[in-house]
Amino acid sequence: MTRRIAILISGRGSNMATLINAAQAPDFPGTIELVISSHEDAGGLALAREAGVPAIAVPRKSYKGKAAFEAAITERLDEAGIDFICLAGFMRVLSSDFVTAWDGRMLNIHPSLLPLFRGLDVHEQALDAGVALSGCTVHLVTPELDGGPIIGQAAVPVLPGDTPDTLASRVQKAEHLLYPAALERCLKGEIGTEPQMVQSGEILMSLR
Ligand code: GRF
Repeated sequence: MTRRIAILISGRGSNMATLINAAQAPDFPGTIELVISSHEDAGGLALAREAGVPAIAVPRKSYKGKAAFEAAITERLDEAGIDFICLAGFMRVLSSDFVTAWDGRMLNIHPSLLPLFRGLDVHEQALDAGVALSGCTVHLVTPELDGGPIIGQAAVPVLPGDTPDTLASRVQKAEHLLYPAALERCLKGEIGTEPQMVQSGEILMSLR
């Protein structure tokens, strides 16, 4: 069964773009049907539309509370018949009611090797900790922030002289490799079968 996927964003949408691109392959086990942004000026909205994907803003600031904001998102998801969600730089913490309703059907990408460095300012945290590797994680979303089951991770080196920006851009290259691969494997139900490892330049990716 091919899944009908929505991507939730708040910003530039580079991960969103890689997911849209990957899902254009004829054998991809899902189609990207909708992009929703919590910010009306998110760059990703235009990118999605250019790629032919319906993209709408559901601005957080237009709603008094989280419940009304999430109800508006749910209405849009239902209208589009969505059955799987990818969070890709969505800068709002979703309520446990929302998350529970999408249990096992919502992925997120986080720019660290979880469980290290949850939350924000992740690259500063990694540099401050003096780690020699950093990377990114795709995980199922659970009510615990950045705490859901790990689907896959990709590691990159931390290099001498790195700043949060240079590390972020190296990690983003890894994100763009990891997220489409993790989504595909997850949708195909291959998680937990044969682990898959890919080395590409300085990126080492491992999917469960
Ligand atoms: C990524 O670094 C992702 O890991 C984090 O937010 C960022 C989104 O970047 N959750 P983009 O909008 O996909 O370029």
